[in-house]
Amino acid sequence: MLKSTGFKKINISIFISGNGSNLKNLIDQSVQKNSKFKIALVVSNNPKAKGLNHTKKFKIKKKIVKYSNIKNAEKKILTELKKNKIDLVCLAGFMKILSKNFIKVFNGKIINIHPSLLPKYKGLNTHQRAIDNKEKYSGCTVHYVNSKLDSGKIILQKKVKIFKNDTSKKLNKRVLKHEHLLYSKALKKVLLSL
Ligand code: GRF
Repeated sequence: MLKSTGFKKINISIFISGNGSNLKNLIDQSVQKNSKFKIALVVSNNPKAKGLNHTKKFKIKKKIVKYSNIKNAEKKILTELKKNKIDLVCLAGFMKILSKNFIKVFNGKIINIHPSLLPKYKGLNTHQRAIDNKEKYSGCTVHYVNSKLDSGKIILQKKVKIFKNDTSKKLNKRVLKHEHLLYSKALKKVLLSL
């Protein structure tokens, strides 16, 4: 059992592929006084991910891994996670699906944020699908990652109302703000259980 109390911070790695607004939010949390975690590594499959810029200010280590071969890519990532003594992986807009093997190695230590009220709308284009289906609510979910896409145990969820004139873009912008709050809350909860 890992201790999340005392002086030893939990080492987290955040995986991104794009903008990294969730990454930025978690960095902001991690540098606060009394934070229980440190972002020890940022992993991206995309060398052009805008989110990588957020690592600069606090000199956070980053690893860019080409995904031309998933086995090799994951091998490289696992080596890097080990080297940096990573206790928990947080997926935040990481657009690659982790293999069963990878998930097994980090069993119960990978979480993800998804822009829907799971189990509804797994996969992509969640807000557009929710609007098309005339749902009253969309939202976001933080969940553990298991070998089935967007299907692991739910940690926390937040409902966000869909307005009559909503577009997927508008809704995405609104939900993203809630994602930031939700991810911080969910992470606190997970850290207590490590
Ligand atoms: C978020 O909507 C997240 O739920 C999904 O990908 C998006 C990432 O946004 N998995 P950002 O890169 O954190 O801004």
